[in-house]
Amino acid sequence: MAEQINPIDNSPILRPGFGLIDGKIRVLSPINPYRAARELLGGSEYSSRHGLLAEHLFILVAALIFPDIPESELARLGSYAGLHDLGKSALLPIVIKRDLNPLERGLLHQHPEVAAKLLSGWPNVPPDLFTMTTLHHERQNGEGYPKGLKAGDIPWQASMMAVVDVLVTVTAPRPWENKVLTFSDGLGTIDEEASRGRQHGQTVAILIKALPSLQDGSIVDRFADNPTVLRSLYTLAPIYNWPTPPLSTT
Ligand SMILES: [Fe+2]
Ligand SMILES: [Fe+2]
Repeated sequence: MAEQINPIDNSPILRPGFGLIDGKIRVLSPINPYRAARELLGGSEYSSRHGLLAEHLFILVAALIFPDIPESELARLGSYAGLHDLGKSALLPIVIKRDLNPLERGLLHQHPEVAAKLLSGWPNVPPDLFTMTTLHHERQNGEGYPKGLKAGDIPWQASMMAVVDVLVTVTAPRPWENKVLTFSDGLGTIDEEASRGRQHGQTVAILIKALPSLQDGSIVDRFADNPTVLRSLYTLAPIYNWPTPPLSTT
C-alpha cells in the first residue's frame, strides 16, 4: 500500500501521484515530467534559483570546453541543466525547503531514480535530458549514486552537470544554513573533489583557467559575438560579483 506520511511527525512528504512502497518512491499515475519540473522550480525560491544558476553555469562551462558549439546546442543543454533535479518533484516543496531528517534525506536521494521513472513513462524524452537528470550524482571514482558508475561509463553531459551542480549548491545560500562560499572558494572545493577523483578534472580545470577572466570581466569580450553565453554571463555576474564591463568596441 502506498504510504506518503512522514512517520516522525505525521506530515505529508510526497506530492499527489507519488507513493512510497517498500521504501521506494513510485509514480502511481502518469505524471507529465515537465509539469512536475515546473512545480518543483516554482515551489520554492531555493529550487528556482538552483535551477537558474545550473542552467546558466552549464551554458558557460559548455561554451568554455567546446568553443565551436552552436548557440542552439548551448541553449538546449542549458535548459536541460535547469531541470536536472526534476526528480525532486516527488517531494512536497515544504520538505525540500527545510533541513531534512534522515527519512526525508533518504527519499531525496532517490531523485535521480524518480527522474528515470518519470521520464521513462513519457514519450520523446531527449536522451541528454534523461542523462543529466538521472546521472548527475554519479562520481568519477564510482562513489556517486544511484548506480556507482565510474568515469568511463558516465556521459560527459552528466560529468559536467555534476561539477555545475555542486558549484551552484555550495555558492548559493540554502534556506536552512547561512554558510555560503564565494565562487572561487566553491571552485576550490570542487578542485579538491577532483583531486580525490570524484569530479571531472577537465571540466574543473577549464573553470579554474577561466576564473581570472570572470573576476576581471574580460570574459565578456571573449564571448562578444555569442548572445547566448553573454546572457548567461550577465545573469550570473551580479550573483557572483563579477564585473560586467561594456563590450569593447575595438
Ligand atoms: Fe540532484
Ligand atoms: Fe541540483
